[in-house]
Amino acid sequence: MYTIEPLSPPRNFGAIVRGISAADIETPEQRKQLRDLWADRGLLVFKDTQNLTTEFHVALSRVFGDLQRYHQENMLVDGHPELISFRADGERDGVYEVDGELRSGFFPFHSDFRWMDHPNRGGVLRIVQLPEKGGDTGFVDGVDAYESMPEDLKRRIEGREVVYQMMTDDRAFKFERWRKMRTIRLGSTRDHIRDNPEKYPPAAYPLVITLPETGRKFLSYSPYFALSVIGLSPEESDALLFELADYYTDPKRAYFHKWELGDMVLWDNWRMLHSAEGVPLGEEREGQRTTIAGAYPIGRMLGEGGWKFEQPLQANLDEENSTVPA
Ligand SMILES: [Fe+2]
Repeated sequence: MYTIEPLSPPRNFGAIVRGISAADIETPEQRKQLRDLWADRGLLVFKDTQNLTTEFHVALSRVFGDLQRYHQENMLVDGHPELISFRADGERDGVYEVDGELRSGFFPFHSDFRWMDHPNRGGVLRIVQLPEKGGDTGFVDGVDAYESMPEDLKRRIEGREVVYQMMTDDRAFKFERWRKMRTIRLGSTRDHIRDNPEKYPPAAYPLVITLPETGRKFLSYSPYFALSVIGLSPEESDALLFELADYYTDPKRAYFHKWELGDMVLWDNWRMLHSAEGVPLGEEREGQRTTIAGAYPIGRMLGEGGWKFEQPLQANLDEENSTVPA
């Protein structure tokens, strides 16, 4: 049986689940207990998991929903179509300067697939090769951000929608401004976008969404991929989005996970943002992850021709789209 502890430092979201094993996910009651904990906390950090194998990584992920399957043989872990491997790679992911340091595998705060209407619900990530330095994963919670938001800001975002799009130029996005970020070199994952822009039409999402499991509202804003607020002038729109980015990703509200071998982290990709802090250029880091499908769209496409997950949400990250960054 596992134990449940607060994050360190404690946050208004997240929990550490220590010592889970296959015996803890056998019955419907056990599985519901874990789903309820996830719905409450948004982020679960599994530590000291007993007999951790790739099979258990997949089995534990399945407790929380249907898993997306991948077709790229070269990325699969031990042939599991639901478990992919990825490495920090300056060629593939690009090179960024962050507060004066050159990093690969860097991705500022975002929600995966926010540039299409039907994003995945979550994922379970495990790091199997730790870098000497860096490699943290940051998290902030939209429920926490919404519930502690000043009433005036709540009023200003109510009923508003934001336009998101996958683009080749990072400078278009309305990032957090509390750190200095500069694109040194775009990764090869952007080649497909540059060559096929018609496949990447914009999508729009409400700034406030209600969670189906708990009825709680969350701030639904992904600074990365965000372009504008519908119905506001460019100046008003930029001002509001930068204000939201700074507010939502405030390090005082964030949890930065420092990985230890054997950790697995499950997060809700709808209600939360995550950041890949990256590693100093040349450092090695390898991760493995599963992807939990979303049950329904929470945004809407604004253009025709975008690629999307088919129903059921499985087996549809096809060859052509395999290099698209999430
Ligand atoms: Fe991501």
